[in-house]
Amino acid sequence: MLQWSLLSTLVGSPGSVLLILVLLHRLCMWPWHKSHLWDLQHCSTDLTGKTAVVTGANSGIGKAVSQELARRGARVILACRNWEYGQQALAEIQVASKSNCLLLGQVDLSSMASIRSFSRWLLQECPEIHLLVNNAGTCGFPKTLTQEGLDLTFATNYVGPFLLTNLLRGALQRAGSARVVNVSSFRHAHGYVDEEHLTGAGKPLIFNQNYDCSKLLLTSFTGELARRLQGTGVTVNSVDPGIVYTNIMKHFSWSYRFLFWLFNFFCKDVRQGAVPVLYLSLAKELDGISGKYFSSSCRIILPAKAAQDPQVAQRLWNATVQLTNLDKMD
Ligand SMILES: NC(=O)c1ccc[n+]([C@@H]2O[C@H](COP(=O)([O-])OP(=O)(O)OC[C@H]3O[C@@H](n4cnc5c(N)ncnc54)[C@H](OP(=O)(O)O)[C@@H]3O)[C@@H](O)[C@H]2O)c1
Repeated sequence: MLQWSLLSTLVGSPGSVLLILVLLHRLCMWPWHKSHLWDLQHCSTDLTGKTAVVTGANSGIGKAVSQELARRGARVILACRNWEYGQQALAEIQVASKSNCLLLGQVDLSSMASIRSFSRWLLQECPEIHLLVNNAGTCGFPKTLTQEGLDLTFATNYVGPFLLTNLLRGALQRAGSARVVNVSSFRHAHGYVDEEHLTGAGKPLIFNQNYDCSKLLLTSFTGELARRLQGTGVTVNSVDPGIVYTNIMKHFSWSYRFLFWLFNFFCKDVRQGAVPVLYLSLAKELDGISGKYFSSSCRIILPAKAAQDPQVAQRLWNATVQLTNLDKMD
């Protein structure tokens, strides 16, 4: 609404031509997004009796994904960092999806202790998990160390999903057939692999490159996990949702947030941004497909070279196992 009133007051001013062009572009992009996306409405997958876990379910893409999964009958565990935001989202999703199979769990993905305690609770609640959507993510932080000595961005976007997925591996395998969906980003192509970044050391990173690198690690992890899960009935793929107007920029300065707000004319809305994630979660034609990277228009494409290298992936896997003490506990 604010944008409309701003637009109307600016008509006649020099900036109005530009704004009108932007608006026209947006109008042209809308049918393009629609025609280039998988058709969710024609997907008949029913999730009654299935359990899905979505991290970062209180906001943006995660909330839209959770709502659609709940509408299809799944028992959805909303894995949220903030209990109050989680409760608000749960109430909204309940009304919109008419589901009474929602459960809220609290987890801070930047904290290994929190992930371990959440996983213990979750495994008691749900011995079988059919779908895990590693959606939660963050950006806009400079190098910041957590209490456990991890870099906040790498911990949230890579170490957290790595640890959570590994701790839930038994429940995924018990389900007989299960999927893991890692929400990556086209930005992963601007990153590089340096395991030392995980602990705030390593080679220098330019503006927001910690985000790019963390998404590269998540994409590399997807390939390695797929190799390790072969023959178990569990598949894992990663996906770029595209540029979606959400709260993802909330940790940037007001000037970047303002630019993103202006830019939102060019972005997908949250429902469109959820479609590629839902495609990986629901599409029957993806049964048995694993270790792939999907573009925001739901096509399998090659990820950045570093994410295709099995040796790099194995080295990263071993370093993360050590860092998370995965080989010593539980
Ligand atoms: N929007 C885009 O253009 C875009 C493009 C490419 C990829 N992606 C990816 O899409 C995913 C969803 O992002 P979004 O765009 O929907 O942004 P969003 O609206 O900001 O949602 C991010 C979610 O992640 C949660 N989160 C952040 N840090 C967390 C932590 N330490 N522990 C647990 N939860 C945490 C947030 O919880 P709080 O509300 O408590 O902060 C929120 O629920 C992210 O992985 C993002 O990197 C987005």
